[in-house]
Amino acid sequence: MNKPDNHILTIFGASGDLTKRKLVPEIYELKKQNLLPDKFAILGIGRKELSDEAFRNKMYNAILEFNNIDNKENVKEFVKNFYFQTIDTKSADDYAKVKSRIEGLVAEYSIDENVIFYLSTPPSLYGIIPEYLGKHNLANEDKGWKRIIVEKPFGYDLQSAIELNKSIKQSFHEDQIYRIDHYLGKETVQNLLVTRFSNGIFEPLWNRNFVQHIEITSAESLGVENRGGYYDSSGAVRDMIQNHLLQIVALVAMEPPSSIESNSIRNEMLKVFHSLRPIENIKEQVIRGQYVSSKIKGEAVQGYREEEGVDPNSKTETYAAVKFYIDNWRWGGIPFYVRHGKRLPTKVTEVVVHFKPTPHSIFKSQSLGEACNRLVIRIQPDEGILLKFGMKVPGQGFSVQNVNMDFHYKDLSNVHLASAYERLLHDCMVGDSTLYARGDAVEAAWEFIDPILKNWKDDNSIPLFGYPAGTWGPENADDLIEGAHLTWRYPCKNLSDDGSYCEL
Ligand code: BG6
Repeated sequence: MNKPDNHILTIFGASGDLTKRKLVPEIYELKKQNLLPDKFAILGIGRKELSDEAFRNKMYNAILEFNNIDNKENVKEFVKNFYFQTIDTKSADDYAKVKSRIEGLVAEYSIDENVIFYLSTPPSLYGIIPEYLGKHNLANEDKGWKRIIVEKPFGYDLQSAIELNKSIKQSFHEDQIYRIDHYLGKETVQNLLVTRFSNGIFEPLWNRNFVQHIEITSAESLGVENRGGYYDSSGAVRDMIQNHLLQIVALVAMEPPSSIESNSIRNEMLKVFHSLRPIENIKEQVIRGQYVSSKIKGEAVQGYREEEGVDPNSKTETYAAVKFYIDNWRWGGIPFYVRHGKRLPTKVTEVVVHFKPTPHSIFKSQSLGEACNRLVIRIQPDEGILLKFGMKVPGQGFSVQNVNMDFHYKDLSNVHLASAYERLLHDCMVGDSTLYARGDAVEAAWEFIDPILKNWKDDNSIPLFGYPAGTWGPENADDLIEGAHLTWRYPCKNLSDDGSYCEL
């Protein structure tokens, strides 16, 4: 794999949780995989008064806690390349300190002035930091490349996303901006591209002539944990559907790109967003729910409104299911269903392609649901692919039974499965933006989502259904699925385990 150019990774919000739990441990993983450049330094930036030495100790402990460490000496050696600069992020003048620190490191390491700026701060700073970097000439690429990574959420609605894009683009051009959507960094999400475009057998069937509907489920068993304050002003649609799940929709529905090059893929994804039919009837096409207290495996679990940081009268949705259409030649008239919820029975994300039944059923024992072949692409956990099809039950007559053909990633032993952050950080280091969201795509996704949020806010008659924590969400969501006898697939942890009983 490509080794990146020598560079400095500057992390804004370096004393925060993301840096400690994810970024630095994943960067160390890149080190273990020999994917870091020969000369590489991390400059942490934050409001805290922290010496280089204190930052190194903190990150040393973080790596030991969140990575599998074989050799502590190597970690000690690695963190010698860590530095910290205290600034008031809201003060334009303070960015002079960042500039002089970068210039000092560039001289000390004798490298080009290649710099990544990673914004791991509260979203309210996503506009300010690029502006002040620009003011201090730190987006300028005369002496080396400059890239900026922006964490999610990218905007709160369409208008704020447009403004944020505009504001960042005053200092950085689109090719320098890397908007993280960590779902795109997941191996199995990328495999959607490979499954579709490296096989001759799926693509001819991947359209309105053979597909009955497509279902995408992202379930989480946890509640909002300690993020009640953030979540209450966000909700399931903003937190998961606008970004992660719509990106998956785009990869499932897009046309074949002409090459594996970034803009080629991102152009096709954008076309999907532009083809999303605006939702005509929010009440009928979108179901929202909120978990209420219940017992899971005999243990009492509190409801969403009782969670810390959550308004006791909150109307924020912790579950949403959406039915929509993609108006283009490939998908005209085919419904797509996307659902996400917290405090559901298990943690699972998967795409299910339901194929149309045979035009005439000669085997009477087959029910309509069983007559449909299904391809299940499991994003997580038990990553893999499952194809369901009818087989003859051995013996007299022609009884048909649905059977499974499955592939599990875990069967590929000795393969290092890179985590999402590891993959995405490395991609940015080598200048590959394919798996980052482009500005126009983010705006197009908001354009689709905005009317849902506006309607919910303005129309009090739209119900918010309660569902007991630990169940599959409001029952009304079952009625979304078009067609008699059809309902969602209720998946288990194990990909091929989809009988009526399973370990949750
Ligand atoms: C984050 C959301 O972006 O994704 C969280 O803010 C959610 O609420 C998380 O739990 C899910 O990510 P993953 O990788 O655990 O499926």
